[in-house]
Parts: sequence; structure tokens; C-alpha cells
Amino acid sequence: MQRVLSGIQPSGSQHIGHLIGALDNFTRLQGQGDAFYMIADWHALTSKYESVGEIGPATEELTATYLAAGLDPSNATIFVQSLVKEHAELHLLFSMITPLSWLERVPTYKEKLQNATADLGSYGFLGYPLLQAADILIYKAHKVPVGEDQLFHLELTREVARRFHFLFGREVFPEPQAVLTPTPKVPGLDGRKMSKSYGNCIYLRDTPEQILHKCTREMASDPARVKRTDPGNPDICPVFEFHKLFSSPETVEMVNTECRRAGIGCFDCKKKVAEAVTARTEPIRQQIEERLAHPAQLREVLHDGSARARAVAGQTMVEVREAMQMPSY
Ligand code: TRP
Ligand code: SF4
Repeated sequence: MQRVLSGIQPSGSQHIGHLIGALDNFTRLQGQGDAFYMIADWHALTSKYESVGEIGPATEELTATYLAAGLDPSNATIFVQSLVKEHAELHLLFSMITPLSWLERVPTYKEKLQNATADLGSYGFLGYPLLQAADILIYKAHKVPVGEDQLFHLELTREVARRFHFLFGREVFPEPQAVLTPTPKVPGLDGRKMSKSYGNCIYLRDTPEQILHKCTREMASDPARVKRTDPGNPDICPVFEFHKLFSSPETVEMVNTECRRAGIGCFDCKKKVAEAVTARTEPIRQQIEERLAHPAQLREVLHDGSARARAVAGQTMVEVREAMQMPSY
């Protein structure tokens, strides 16, 4: 049985980049293996330590989003990182055997350090990928469905596993592999990667009106197409990228031909994108709102899932302590 593990930080609302880049894969993989999906609230602390009050509500929202996107608690273990203290123990043990230089060279580290609004010069932020390695290895995961930006963290995870095996002479952990969706990088409204920090997102909780507004008023199109009679080039237009992700093959084909001969105007083209995005997100949005109206049920999902996760993590830690010759009396 293949073990699957992934997680998302509860540090803000989920957008369609999360849906296409990660959540779709979470859902697909839950039927194929023994799947664990985490709410990484300790990871959220690396940037939210000055606003800890936001993490609880974001945890509930993420749980509702997991369920609305199709995760099923009878098929997948949905849990909260901070309710499984074993992650912290494994992180600490890994911190003893991981060279500092491995963490300092993580590409996302320096980049985020410079762009961040919060002061990220903390010990915990440097150790972020190592905590992630502990999250993954403690469940002996084989597959980790993630976005493209996480590939280096997976590489580091494998290196840490190898170093553990080399030092303690016991193969406790399988080497986990990342699983990407066919289109892991979703463009934002401005054509850059969709990201909260760029303010270019369509959120899963956006209403049809908000989506229509964002698509028709805020979305970039081929800048060379100024007049309605100018032919456009869909290959360089972010709107066309959205069509490819959300519209039917017929619509994609139609836009591809008509744009090039000025047969369709950008406004109509964007309206069509808004409709296609809404068709995908509106059922999810409604489910998220419905789930959020019943917080006791959400907490029960997390309570039960976290108990299951603790049982598995606890078993791995017995092996880890044995390999490291820690006392068991
Ligand atoms: N770093 C991941 C992200 O920002 C979240 C995460 C934490 C994670 N622990 C994980 C992802 C373990 C996969 C596996 O998206
Ligand atoms: Fe882009 Fe559509 Fe306008 Fe063509 S018609 S430039 S694909 S928005």
C-alpha cells in the first residue's frame, strides 16, 4: 500500500492555484493509497507568529476547503500538525544531523527572506524545510502531492533520510517522491504565478460576481491587442491560459482561432473565462460556506484524523529512537 502525505499551511484563504496545483491531486490520490492530509499550523507560525489569532480560523477554513474539494475522511486521514507532537521530536532529532549549509542553500529561503512582510530571520524559519521533512518521513510517505515550488523541499527530505540511514545503519524511511499535477503552475490575474503576496488571486470563496469582476476588469490580456479589430495572440495571453485550464476543448479551440482573426473581443473572451471558472468553483464555494456553518463537525474530523495520525507517527518514532539508541526505559 502506497502511503501518501501532503499538507497546506493555514495562513490564508485557498485560491484556484491551490485547487489545480495541489488539491486536485490530493483528491485523486486518496483512492489509490493510504492518504494523510495535514493542516501545517506549526509551519504557519513561521510567518504568523505576530498574528496567531488568525491560525485557528484559517485551520477551520482549510478543513472545510479540503472537504469541499473532495477529500473524504473515510478515505483519507485529515489532521492537524500541532496535534501530533511526534513531528516536533523528529524535527529536533533531524536538526542534530542536518548541516546548516543544507538549509541555507534552499532556494526559497533567501528569496522569501527578502520579500517577506514579517521578519523571517528566525531559527524556525530556517528550519521550515526540515520540519517538512519530519512531516513526510514520520508517515513513511512514498508520494507527496505538491506544487512545483516544493520540489526542493522534497529533495532535501530525501537527503535527510539518506543521512539518517547512513549514520544509524537502519533503513527506517522510504524515499518520498513528489507528485505534480499536469499543470502545477497556475497563472495569476497579471500573468505571474498566482500568489497571495502578488494580490493576483481568484479565491475559492470568491462569489460569481467577484470572479466576473476580476476576470473582466483585472485580468491581463495580449497587450498588443488595443482595438477590437486588432488580431490577438492567445499564446502570450493569460486569459487563454485560463481557458485551457477551465473551459471545454471546443471553447479553447474557438478562442484560439477567433482571437487570431479578431473574431472575438477580449471582453467576451474574459466573460467566458469567468463562466468557466465559476462553474468549477461555485459548488466548492457553497460547500465551504456550508461546512463553515458547522464548526463542531469540522473539529470532529480533525480530532479523529489527528488520533489516527498519532498512532502511525508514534510507531515510526519507536523505530527512530531504537535506531538512535535512545533509552526506552
Ligand atoms: N511547505 C508546504 C507548502 O507551503 C506545506 C507543507 C508542510 C507540506 N509540510 C508538508 C507539504 C509536508 C507536503 C508535505 O505548501
Ligand atoms: Fe486574450 Fe481572449 Fe483577448 Fe485573445 S480574445 S487576446 S485570448 S483575452
